[in-house]
Formats: sequence, structure tokens, C-alpha cells
Amino acid sequence: MADTPQAYLAHHRQRHLDELVEFLRIPSMSAPAESAGEVARAAEWVANKLQHIGAEHVAIMPTGGHPVVYADWLHAPDKPTYLIYGHFDVQPVDPVDLWHTPPFEPQILDDRIVARGATDDKGNMFLPIMAVEALLATTGRLPVNVKFFFEGQEEIGSPQLPAFVAAHRELLACDAVLNADSGQYSETEPAILVGLRGICSFELDVVGPDHDLHSGSFGGAVQNPLHAIVMLLDSMRAHDGRILVEGFYDDVVELTPAERQALARVPFDEDKYTAELGVDELFGEPGYAPWERTSIRPTLEINGLWGGFIGDGEKTVLPSEAHCKVSCRLVPNQDPDKVLAAIRAHIATHTPPGVRVTFREGHGTPAYVVPSDLPELAVARAVLTEVYGREPYDIRMGGSIPVTTLFSQVLGVHSIGFGFGLENERGHSPNEFFHLSGYNQGQRAWVLLLERLGA
Ligand code: BES
Ligand code: MN
Ligand code: MN
Repeated sequence: MADTPQAYLAHHRQRHLDELVEFLRIPSMSAPAESAGEVARAAEWVANKLQHIGAEHVAIMPTGGHPVVYADWLHAPDKPTYLIYGHFDVQPVDPVDLWHTPPFEPQILDDRIVARGATDDKGNMFLPIMAVEALLATTGRLPVNVKFFFEGQEEIGSPQLPAFVAAHRELLACDAVLNADSGQYSETEPAILVGLRGICSFELDVVGPDHDLHSGSFGGAVQNPLHAIVMLLDSMRAHDGRILVEGFYDDVVELTPAERQALARVPFDEDKYTAELGVDELFGEPGYAPWERTSIRPTLEINGLWGGFIGDGEKTVLPSEAHCKVSCRLVPNQDPDKVLAAIRAHIATHTPPGVRVTFREGHGTPAYVVPSDLPELAVARAVLTEVYGREPYDIRMGGSIPVTTLFSQVLGVHSIGFGFGLENERGHSPNEFFHLSGYNQGQRAWVLLLERLGA
């Protein structure tokens, strides 16, 4: 007897896992310029896979930066059309010494698959591909129309996508986006993504004397750029976590007590949380619960800080330069350009004497909120309830996905998060992994989702 789609997935589990391993072996880091060829190779891998499962109009499309991969299956005339989104680029691997196994040599260890990109997002974007394969192979058709849209520049802020999406409105037109770059609350507790934070980022170059100085001969008479950058960064954030940049909170809308209460239904075990992170205690803005500080409140975080001598031993130097990379997470109603302007003004008034600061703006994207009455959200909720045996929590997640805002602004469509990653899977960190439980439940859930959306 022919397989059902779910039986097909079970019968092809090992081959699919082998394919995912092959996909994860491609070091498709979008940030380092020298990896661009590997991002292109990952695009080819994805396009080839989509071709094999029976998707049509498969195309690797140029963007001016890292490419996107498009494919579709549009033979369900009276059914809605969904755009399935994910990204095949990954974060850099440094500090590479902290990996227990090489980042691009995937390992299946107990209940997990370990590799850069395992959860964010290669493992997750592979789930709908397998689900579509299973449906096409066993039924010869799909319950809905599907367009695949996978990008290779999410982890650097999707710089070329505003122009690309605007130029391909018709190609990408759909009823809603199904976003495979999302997650669940735990291995046994599902979650519906109801919002993502926005982001804006910048870099500072702080320059003092025009060459490195002997710190004995000159220390005491000349401003040290490393001290200056530390003072400047310290002036931006109070020691309790409140942001001190004038105007930073101006447009932030406070949630009503009822909204806060609704989001507070999610259990939060502080001891488990601190133990998993290896910290003694938590930190952050007074007046807000830890989960609020990572979802409904904006932040400012130093991502990198460097300068001076960091080799072995001592070198008594007063360095000529210091540098940092900083990003802010934004909440609904905050405008990234306005926040960057406030930071620029803050720097102008808080730069210590004796140094010059260059401010370089990075990408910016506003927060994204999913309307709670989307019909697809109810379908996703029902599918997760069936797969996990309990109702999902509604969760606003602290990360950012620039293209979700673009889809809503440019295509006028909303994105339903349908991913199976967990926040403890070390995304962006050494030893990233994907729980095999999420990988297995996710395949099954994607088949059910497509079936229910077409019912
Ligand atoms: N998948 C994440 C975003 C995410 C994280 C969603 C946690 C839900 C929960 C995505 O790949 C990501 O890391 N985005 C970047 C975007 C940035 C570089 C513009 C981020 O949030 O830092
Ligand atoms: Mn991601
Ligand atoms: Mn990411």
C-alpha cells in the first residue's frame, strides 16, 4: 500500500537526515566577505533540492548581494497561496576554539544534531521542504499553493531585500507567509510567535593620537581611546540596565496591565534559566520581569569591543584607536532611524575630550507584531495542539527578522511563525544544535499545517 505523507517521512528519515548533514556542511556564513562563494553554494544546494522534490520555476535570483532561492507549486486553483520563508545563511563561528566539534562537521549526539546553522535556520527551513516532498511524493499534489522564498542574507540584516521584494511584488504575492525561522517554547511546550523585536545597529571608531604611544612616556597627558570608548558606552546605559540615551524611550508604547498579564501566562523558572546560562543571577531594567526585558522592552548591547594590545604578555601601549559594535533591540512604534539619530546626538554631547569619534550606522528594522485574529494563526495553533498534546503559549520573541516587516509593508501580508527551534539551542553561539525531537515533530507538523490550511 502506498505511504501516507507521515509514513513517507518515517520511511525516509535516515536519507533526510543525511541530506541535512550535507546542507550543514556548507559554511554559508553571510558576514565574512570571503564566504560569499559558500553562501552561493548553499543557494545551489537548496535550489537543487527543490528541483528534486518537484517544485517548479526553481530559480537562484541575484540581489546585488547574497542570492535568494525561489520555487513554487501553484496547481491548487481554488486554494490560498502561502509563501514559505527561511534562510540558508548562518552566523560566523567565532570563537571557534569554544566549539567541542568543528562547526561545519555536523554530529548527531544523543538527542541533537550539532552544527552551525542546525537550528538557525538550516534545520528549520528543511522541515517544510521535507513536508512538501512527502505530500507530492505520496499524493501527487499539495493541499494549497506554495511559493518558497529562501534568502542568504538574513544574518546580516537582509540589506538587499527591500529593493528585491519591492521589485518582485507579483512573484512573491501570497495570502500569508509561513515563517520557518521561528521556534517553540520547550521540547514539550509549543508556542505561537506573536511578535519580534526590531533592531538597529552601529559601529564606533574612536581615534586619539595618530600613532600608538609609549604609555610611560605619554600616559597621563593624552586621552586613551580605549578609556574614552568605555566612558562613552558607559554613558549610554545605567548600571541597572536602563538606557540613558536621551529620547531612546520616547515612542515606546507601554503595554496595558491586561496585555502584560496575558503574556505572563508563560511559565518562567528563574533557577532553570540561570543554570542553563551559567550565570549566578539575572540583570536588567527595574520594574519588568526577565521575559519582559527580552521581549517587550528595548535594549542596547555591546556586541564587540576591541583595540590596543591583546597578545600574550604585556605591552605598555597607549593605543591610537578603539572600536565597538553595538545593537539595540526595538519594540513596536520605535523607529530605527530616529533611535540612531538619538544615539548620534548622545555621542556628540558625551564624547570625552581628546578623541574623535566616527559613527557608522548599520541596518535597521522596526519591530513586527502578528495580528491575533489571523485565520492562519488559529490553524497553526490547532496543529501545534495536536502535535504536542497541549495548547501553545503566545510569545513575543526577542530576536529580529527584517524581512517579516518588509513582507507586511511591501506585500501587505503577515507572517505566521512555524519553526521548531528552542532558545536554548545555542543559536549564534558555539556548539549550536537542533533537538531531534523538534526536527521530528516539525516535519509532522508542517504536513498537518499544509493539509489543514487547504481543508
Ligand atoms: N532566527 C533569528 C531571529 C529569532 C531569534 C527569532 C530568536 C525568534 C527567536 C534570526 O536568524 C536572527 O538571528 N536575526 C538577527 C537579525 C539581525 C542580524 C538583523 C538577530 O535577531 O540578531
Ligand atoms: Mn534565523
Ligand atoms: Mn540568526
